[in-house]
Amino acid sequence: MSPSFYITTPLYYVNDRPHIGSAYTTLIADIIAMYHRMKGDDVYFLTGTDEHGQKVQQAAEKNGISPREHCDLYAARFRELWSYFNLSNDDFIRTTEERHVRVVQTVLRKLYDEGQIYKDTYDGWYSVADELFISEKDYQEGKYRDVRRISESNYYFRMSDYRERLIRHIQEHPDFIAPENRRNEILGFLKQPLKDLCISRPKERLSWGIELPFDDQYVTYVWFDALLNYITAPGYLQDAEKFDRYWPAVHLIGKDILTTHCVYWPAMLMAAGLPLPAKIFAHGWWTSEGQKMSKSLGNFIDLDTIREHCERVGKDMYRYFMAKEGPLQNDSDFSRERFYQTYNSDLANDFGNLVNRIFKLIGKFYEGKIPTPAKFSPDEEALKANAEQCRVKVFEYLQELNVNALTAEILRYVSSLNRYLEIKEPWKLAKNDTAAAGTVLYAALAGLRFSAALLYPLLPEKMREFFAMLNTGEAPGSVLEWDTLPAGVQLQEMIALFPRFDLSLLESSAQ
Ligand code: MSP
Repeated sequence: MSPSFYITTPLYYVNDRPHIGSAYTTLIADIIAMYHRMKGDDVYFLTGTDEHGQKVQQAAEKNGISPREHCDLYAARFRELWSYFNLSNDDFIRTTEERHVRVVQTVLRKLYDEGQIYKDTYDGWYSVADELFISEKDYQEGKYRDVRRISESNYYFRMSDYRERLIRHIQEHPDFIAPENRRNEILGFLKQPLKDLCISRPKERLSWGIELPFDDQYVTYVWFDALLNYITAPGYLQDAEKFDRYWPAVHLIGKDILTTHCVYWPAMLMAAGLPLPAKIFAHGWWTSEGQKMSKSLGNFIDLDTIREHCERVGKDMYRYFMAKEGPLQNDSDFSRERFYQTYNSDLANDFGNLVNRIFKLIGKFYEGKIPTPAKFSPDEEALKANAEQCRVKVFEYLQELNVNALTAEILRYVSSLNRYLEIKEPWKLAKNDTAAAGTVLYAALAGLRFSAALLYPLLPEKMREFFAMLNTGEAPGSVLEWDTLPAGVQLQEMIALFPRFDLSLLESSAQ
């Protein structure tokens, strides 16, 4: 049986339209999932929508529709976006689904019966906008919006009981939280005493949520509800075999939801007697044109802006850029110039040029048939050995979820192929030594095919087109050997996969 690999994205709130942040986490997760499938792993890739809570209730009221109608509308928007990006997710979970409600209520009931949940009265500050109980200090510092004094009875989860066990787990599993800066952030956070977690909201204040199974006057706090999706989807309490096969997961999240995932969630799992996640990777944020994204600044990169870029250079470029330049460790800036320059330099010049040169020469000197190589010289042997090394490195970077380095590694190999052609000059060689030129073109095409296969998760549509042109009948993600390129195959007519983008067009458009 092949090894299993379970990866998740956060569940997106349905009170806002999808934007570059949601697209980023999801596309990176898709890329990682696709590489694992290429490796032969049995992959389970999950995304979905987070549909309960005050913000959703308010957004629905504002639009004059019921919360359920509102959720249906937004969940459909997310689904549509993911299908546009050819997302390979295995499941899409909505927290309003029956399968999820059942899991949340069963876990709550178990914890309540065991005394891990108790009732208490809270007297203090509450941020309505952020749906959070906040400390006197945070109130004084004015960190939160829309703050009110409230006195309210609620249910609490004994999260404080798990502090030491959690610290120990993090220390004993250096890869549990990544990157390193986020791990240190959580260890720093855990130096202070951990409070118990309020896991309910009174219905009189909020009705749009999962009812507590032991008190019908309350609904579940949205985070306690949403985090459990990660075990609902692979079949917790429904399909033990599936659940055991896939859990624990690798969670890909943004840095803003670090505490909920690295503290609340592990504590909940420990309380429920379940294994902790395999890894939690929290990436940085995208800024836009040098500033934090905001609607009032006009630099907000929403779905429509994303599609506009995709219409110009193809939707694959979007995921390629997210992978190459995205904020894994720190933050990254999205600028149109950088986006289109990366397209031109990596794809139009480096990759596109290579395809162009090789296909044209094979067309001209070998009637479009892949030439049979003569004996390889040390130069071709080096191309082959470097390919092997590149593959090893790509899968090492995959292990660290370092898609930046992974992408750069493949591109380095593509550049080395261009350099090889410049040194060998097959266009000159072909005029008096077709056998020697044939070997060079075979080797270059073997390298190109190999890099196209490795680029497949980053550029799935374009690489499928490339393999159709190559006409070897191979599936794009299946070719990880350099020297298995069949000679004699008739290449299809070349189409320009990455036509150069005229940067002067940017000056005349606002986006
Ligand atoms: N619903 C919660 C997650 C619950 S998971 C059980 C949530 N949703 S969200 O829609 O607000 O955000 C989802 C993700 O988008 C977060 O991981 C967040 O980091 C990411 N991004 C939102 N804006 C972003 C950027 N500008 N850049 C990169 N990612 C950012 O939180």
